[in-house]
Amino acid sequence: MARKIVITSGKGGVGKTTATASIGYALAALKKKVLLCDLDFGLNNLDIVTGVEGEVVYDVCDVLEGKCRVRQAIIQDKNRSTLYILPSGNSLDNDDISGQRIKLMLESVSNYFEYILIDCPAGLDTGFHRAVSCADEAIVVVTPNLSSIRDANKTISVLLSYELKGISVLVNRARGDLMVEQKMIFPDDIAKILNVGLLGVVPEEDAVFLSVGNSLPRFCDSFKAYKIIADNIVKNKNRAFDPLKKYSGFFGSIRRRIKRDI
Ligand SMILES: Nc1ncnc2c1ncn2[C@@H]1O[C@H](COP(=O)(O)OP(=O)(O)O)[C@@H](O)[C@H]1O
Ligand SMILES: [Mg+2]
Repeated sequence: MARKIVITSGKGGVGKTTATASIGYALAALKKKVLLCDLDFGLNNLDIVTGVEGEVVYDVCDVLEGKCRVRQAIIQDKNRSTLYILPSGNSLDNDDISGQRIKLMLESVSNYFEYILIDCPAGLDTGFHRAVSCADEAIVVVTPNLSSIRDANKTISVLLSYELKGISVLVNRARGDLMVEQKMIFPDDIAKILNVGLLGVVPEEDAVFLSVGNSLPRFCDSFKAYKIIADNIVKNKNRAFDPLKKYSGFFGSIRRRIKRDI
């Protein structure tokens, strides 16, 4: 049976879909069999972020409407033989689709995968509950700013009403240069405020949005950060990428200066 992990946040635009794809890539690099499932109906974009939008024939809604079998809707990634994507439907009119039906659909393929990562819509309404009800664990993506932390806090309070095996936080868009100068809250402090374990820290990097449709380049810090996150998920550890390292010491102060001048 696959571990089913929902990637959620409450707030939109914090990096849920990017995290779903990037964690999937990193798990696949560890030879884990992974299914990425887009449950952001209507505002779906996991297919674009993973670069399979041209191969979509059927989606989750077609499966639920009985137009095809779930295996027909699942797309195998071209570059990673153990990574699969289940795209979501385009229709915004989907409130009648119950979480229970999606849960049963995912359970029917659960034995073929080791991990099922569920991309959750923003907000705390129907779509959120539908996605969370299919999962046994949750990763809350948060960015280091007050509105995102407050939304994450509300999200976690709702997640606590579900019988999840684990809730952890992923701090995205961390700026080491600002942290060194005490201008940005530290990831550890965010985890303490939210009272959940810190699964990982991903730095803010142009490479992330430039890589849409492809995986992250190996040399970039966010690639390393997602590698650590995948390792944490597999081994139940809590190491984290250190966004400050690059900006500490003599060379770090030069990097900070250059970044300020850009
Ligand atoms: N660590 C990061 N550094 C820079 N840009 C990022 C990072 N994470 C996500 N982004 C960008 O932020 C935008 C929103 O990300 P997305 O994953 O679509 O958010 P969500 O699914 O939460 O709405 C995208 O343009 C994405 O490329
Ligand atoms: Mg998204």
